[in-house]
Amino acid sequence: MTSAVPAISTDYAQRRRKLMELMGENSIAILPAAEPAMRNGGTEYAYRQNSDLLYLTGFLEPHSVLVLMPGREHGEMVLFCQDRDPSMELWTGYRAGPEGACKTYGADDAFPIDDVDDILPGLLEGRAKVFYAMGCNQNFDLQLMEWIKQIRSKARSGIYPPHEFVTVDHVLHELRLLKSKEEQSTMKQAGKISAQAHVRAMQICKPGMMEYELEAELLHEFVRNGARAPAYSSIVGGGANGCILHYIENNAELLNGDLVLIDAGCELDGYAADITRTFPINGRFSEAQAALYEIVLDAQQAAFDVIVPGSHWNQPHEATVRVITEGLLKLGLLEGDLEQLIEQEGYRDFYMHKAGHWLGMDVHDVGDYKIGGEWRVLEPGMVLTVEPGIYVSPHNTDVDEKWRGIGIRIEDDVIVTRTGCDVMSDGVPKTIQQIEQLMAG
Ligand code: GLY
Ligand code: MN
Ligand code: MN
Repeated sequence: MTSAVPAISTDYAQRRRKLMELMGENSIAILPAAEPAMRNGGTEYAYRQNSDLLYLTGFLEPHSVLVLMPGREHGEMVLFCQDRDPSMELWTGYRAGPEGACKTYGADDAFPIDDVDDILPGLLEGRAKVFYAMGCNQNFDLQLMEWIKQIRSKARSGIYPPHEFVTVDHVLHELRLLKSKEEQSTMKQAGKISAQAHVRAMQICKPGMMEYELEAELLHEFVRNGARAPAYSSIVGGGANGCILHYIENNAELLNGDLVLIDAGCELDGYAADITRTFPINGRFSEAQAALYEIVLDAQQAAFDVIVPGSHWNQPHEATVRVITEGLLKLGLLEGDLEQLIEQEGYRDFYMHKAGHWLGMDVHDVGDYKIGGEWRVLEPGMVLTVEPGIYVSPHNTDVDEKWRGIGIRIEDDVIVTRTGCDVMSDGVPKTIQQIEQLMAG
């Protein structure tokens, strides 16, 4: 647990207001904190707050529950949290306590978490609609069911449980999908720090080093800039390890003549960056590596070209598929008719994932990709990754040996603007010439 009080942005109150407007009268939203996770024995993983709760409050402590009740006379926001306790705080750091929850975090009312069973059923009574992320926190799901059961037993006194349960996702995650100016600025900073980390790894990389030595450089750059954790486990895959999409062992030697694929980004103030670069361990691309690399780079540019308001979500992916399939045909890794290969997904042995995902507080951020069965239309303020790749399995005997074991992905983070998109992670080079120049220096 952290003892630091985060900067309380005015955004939080505004976000709660917007959410409550969408929920409507006579409803209640219940958002529990993330549960701490044990690493082993007596130690926990570093605590990470649930993104929804963080988005609405900035509150970083575990064992807390946010309750929002639009239009409630005695206060719309109630926060249950850990009570102050000097003997516990000596071990785990300062707590806001109910008093701090009101003073610092803007709660209208706050109670010790130990009282939640006594108080929350009363708040549920008489509310028609409950907004809650069912299925995300099993312990809390059961606790909520228990409260509902209690209210049910009062039917003969004319007290009934809420009759409508709505997943909070639709309303809240639509808000999270569109990033405010303040969020955009944090994400740009996360992109900048992460890009610097990739530059550092490129500059230090030499044949004979271990993958984890590059991972150490990334972490060093994140932490020294105040981003205390990576947004996800860093991927550092030399040679054919670059073909394993979620490779995180990072314990192999980096060999002369191979590429290394690094997929790493920091989390800054709750916001993720997600960058991938692939570069030659010895600083010079081979002809085969360069040929495949240029295709991936062109594919990414083709995706950027269609990221404008009004395009639909899948258009960037479709653009990358076309460039990659065309490129693989030209080089002889694929054979046949371009349109047919695209139609029948004949490229999937080499390019088996989507070109990107929403990015925000979660690396794979919230927000629907389809609305009413149709790909959603891009709007200014949405942030997404663009990450095409080509991966030639070392076991693929259908292609010339020179291609085997080459894995390449190039990933950047972009924000949709009114006229197109801004790349937030361009502080690290990605053309062959720029990379070779940086590594030579
Ligand atoms: N690093 C996870 C991803 O690129 O989606
Ligand atoms: Mn990534
Ligand atoms: Mn990604």
